[in-house]
Amino acid sequence: MSSAKRIEDFRVTRNVALTPRHFLLELLAPGKLPGLLPGQFVQVLVENSTSTFLRRPFSIHRVNETENTLDLLVQIKGEGTRKLSRLREGDRLNLIYPLGNSFSLQKNGPVLLIGGGCGVAPLLFLAQSLCTNDTKVAILIGGRKKHDLFEIEEYRKCGEVFITTEDGSEGEKGLVTDHSILQKEKLAYSMIYCCGPDPMMESVASVAHMHNIECEVSLENTMACGFGVCLCCITPTIHGNQRVCVEGPVFNTKELGW
Ligand SMILES: Cc1cc2nc3c(=O)[nH]c(=O)nc-3n(C[C@H](O)[C@H](O)[C@H](O)COP(=O)(O)OP(=O)(O)OC[C@H]3O[C@@H](n4cnc5c(N)ncnc54)[C@H](O)[C@@H]3O)c2cc1C
Ligand code: FES
Repeated sequence: MSSAKRIEDFRVTRNVALTPRHFLLELLAPGKLPGLLPGQFVQVLVENSTSTFLRRPFSIHRVNETENTLDLLVQIKGEGTRKLSRLREGDRLNLIYPLGNSFSLQKNGPVLLIGGGCGVAPLLFLAQSLCTNDTKVAILIGGRKKHDLFEIEEYRKCGEVFITTEDGSEGEKGLVTDHSILQKEKLAYSMIYCCGPDPMMESVASVAHMHNIECEVSLENTMACGFGVCLCCITPTIHGNQRVCVEGPVFNTKELGW
């Protein structure tokens, strides 16, 4: 059950640079974290900047309920994410959360999680929730090169990990959809979850449909309010236009007509 939305000041407890373009923010909640679901996101207020008036949306990457922390995995894109990359331990960060729907947690696996680039952000929380649920999990992660892959050891704690890189510097060479685990005549997964660039998610969806497997993807449409009011994040679905920030960000690919 999703919780009511909160606006709270978190404290930065860690800011770790993973690559020159990616960093991990660990944020301490002011009190007990509400129940959070994999796939949900937060809207972050980037302070002291006239060009970042609108909050920036980020998926919940990891949750530690005992420590009351949540982590964000962020790729530097523009002014807002660059400012966030400079946060230091002890700095304050205002969040609206939890926002959006969530992945549907399959009780009977095995399931396959597929992520590309920084699109992997919501997959760690999803993998952790699924394996706590005793679901058998396999994770396929793709990047351009070895240095685009992060936290592989964390995924290995949840299930078997498969890797592709476009230059072949780690795992199998090619795109995620080229990986040999997807080339079998019959795929024995009850669900495929996918996050990454739209063309990658569309190719994964077509593999899933070919094998008659349900597929859920997380969309990253540009957002303003993040809670259903401004209608700037609309996506067409078979049910008509829907708000990615409320009816999504997670959609079954059949709803998207993919
Ligand atoms: C539901 C949701 C979850 C997201 N989760 C993550 C996450 O976990 N980690 C992460 O790094 N990013 C995530 N994003 C994308 C992130 O919100 C944007 O990269 C960020 O807002 C860019 O802010 P900026 O000020 O740095 O860039 P801006 O200066 O605003 O823009 C710089 C460039 O980034 C592009 N951009 C801006 N917003 C988006 C967007 N929503 N999607 C794609 N491109 C965008 C712009 O077109 C522009 O080219 C998520 C987006 C959504 C909608
Ligand atoms: S971002 Fe405002 S309605 Fe979705």
